[in-house]
Amino acid sequence: MRIFGIYGGYLNHDPGVCLVEDGKIIFSWNEERPRRLKPSDIDDQQKMMSANGFYERMYGSPEDVQQHGDWGFPYKSLEILREKYKFDFHNIDYLALTSPVPIEMKDFVDEYKIPYEKIIITNHHTSHCSGAYYTSGFKDPCFVFSYDAGGMTDGAGHENTYGKTFIAKNGNMRLVNKFPMATSTTIGCGYGYITNWLGWKSNKDEGKVTGLAGHGEYNETLYNCFKELSSYDRKKMLFTNKQGFSNSLTSGGGIRMMMELLHTEGLNYTHHYQTREEFRPDISEDTKKKHKNDLAYNYQLYMEDQVIEYCNHLHELYPEIKKMCVAGGLFGNVKLNQRINELDWLDELYIYPAMNDSGLALGGALRVSADMGDRKVERFENLFLGYEYKEDEVDEIFFNGDYNFENIIRKDIDYDYVAQRLHDGKIIGYFNGRFEFGPRALGARSILVRPTDAKTHGELNKRLGRTEIMPFAPIVVDSQANKVFHTNNKSHYAAEFMTLCYNTRKEWIPRIPAVVHEVDSTARPQIVKEDNPFYPVVMKYWELSDIPVLLNTSFNIHGEPIIESPEQALNHLNNDVVDLLVIDNHMYSKEF
Ligand SMILES: [Fe+2]
Repeated sequence: MRIFGIYGGYLNHDPGVCLVEDGKIIFSWNEERPRRLKPSDIDDQQKMMSANGFYERMYGSPEDVQQHGDWGFPYKSLEILREKYKFDFHNIDYLALTSPVPIEMKDFVDEYKIPYEKIIITNHHTSHCSGAYYTSGFKDPCFVFSYDAGGMTDGAGHENTYGKTFIAKNGNMRLVNKFPMATSTTIGCGYGYITNWLGWKSNKDEGKVTGLAGHGEYNETLYNCFKELSSYDRKKMLFTNKQGFSNSLTSGGGIRMMMELLHTEGLNYTHHYQTREEFRPDISEDTKKKHKNDLAYNYQLYMEDQVIEYCNHLHELYPEIKKMCVAGGLFGNVKLNQRINELDWLDELYIYPAMNDSGLALGGALRVSADMGDRKVERFENLFLGYEYKEDEVDEIFFNGDYNFENIIRKDIDYDYVAQRLHDGKIIGYFNGRFEFGPRALGARSILVRPTDAKTHGELNKRLGRTEIMPFAPIVVDSQANKVFHTNNKSHYAAEFMTLCYNTRKEWIPRIPAVVHEVDSTARPQIVKEDNPFYPVVMKYWELSDIPVLLNTSFNIHGEPIIESPEQALNHLNNDVVDLLVIDNHMYSKEF
């Protein structure tokens, strides 16, 4: 059975498309790659809406968008399927739709004359959970837990929640708890508000808060204030507050009130981020910096503690269950995932690699496929589920004079040479086959650098125009993962997708400083097996340096989604973003 999945439309971000055929994932990708804009970024949403004539049809003016929230529909992805791959939308058995039926979807359905009885709407959090469970490979009973800043699905039988928990067994999922928007608050939205408070963009820069948190200290007043706003209620199995005020974290109002309260006590946590810098000129820059670090630290700790309390409560209620899979934006937090993974009663944690809403199209399609009896509980074979550029397409781009790549020389791939250049400290662009599904670069569109130089962090930020605070992440050869990091061989499948942190073994900290957190010595490794495109290069580098580790970051510059085409890769070589470029079986450089 062919199930085509779409997520996107009014009030949604991270739109995507996928195809699941007879239970197998054929493709799955997100709109930001082909469209070259980030649908989770408010500025990019505005550009997209303008391009699609959205304002004219819906609201009349671009300014109105602020009131209407996030938005995106995978127009470009549908166009690529139609034009490049001649995909026949008539030839599908079901259309899985993980969102309310938006006006854009109606246009699509009408254009292809898809009968309404073929459309199945799946719930937001059920889709998050289905994506996680049906790709976990867990044969044993497990918890399936989703949580985020809220997911809405309207229509009969659907509801708006911040998260759900299922117990899954033998391919079936049984709902045991949910977090309704009407009666609970969300620690996920709180994280977004703290992100804004610190001067960044929520829904985009949360990782920076996690990075900053590593530099802060515990502050009892602050920590307890967060608890006052919302904490886990064992009787209700919800996050709520003592006053029963369900929106204390959701709206940001609670946080604002708290900040103002703290301000009266002389702390500079107060006031909206836009005016924060002018506020309290009497406070020194160092103190302000400390306050920001502590704000991040205490929210991160509070959020982790709350989630851990919930997980432990689940364990008390169902002590026979020892595995857990998770999805939803909250689990983009690699430090939280580390805490969950360290729970001693837990045998294995799996984080759905497209944990945020980028994973919803596939989650919904897998839900429908399982309901039809097709999809079993299996692992991903790999995440290279995007589309690819064939050799003749790459040749056309490289040799066609229109692109101005005349100063670039091409040679056949030589991994000894690539490893040597890495060893010399060069920055290598790495482009292979189909691009990755989800937010992380895992071998198909990456930048590789040696992990041995502490200065690399600043240098890479400069080269890529980024302001990363978290350390860059390492890749590590499968057999060496537990030798370099304290993995205890636990949750290695999750670590193939760079979704959780581990502590670094003491003797390795000085050897790989570019990929280890300078304060807490954690790292977020991607465990690389033989079938990963990184494997030949990391093996050669290991031979050369005695280090089975490389630094891997996504192949993009500031503000740009991860690259998609060979043309973008070659442009970055042309502009000296990278020193050497690998595209499939060739190396490209201005000098050899
Ligand atoms: Fe979500």
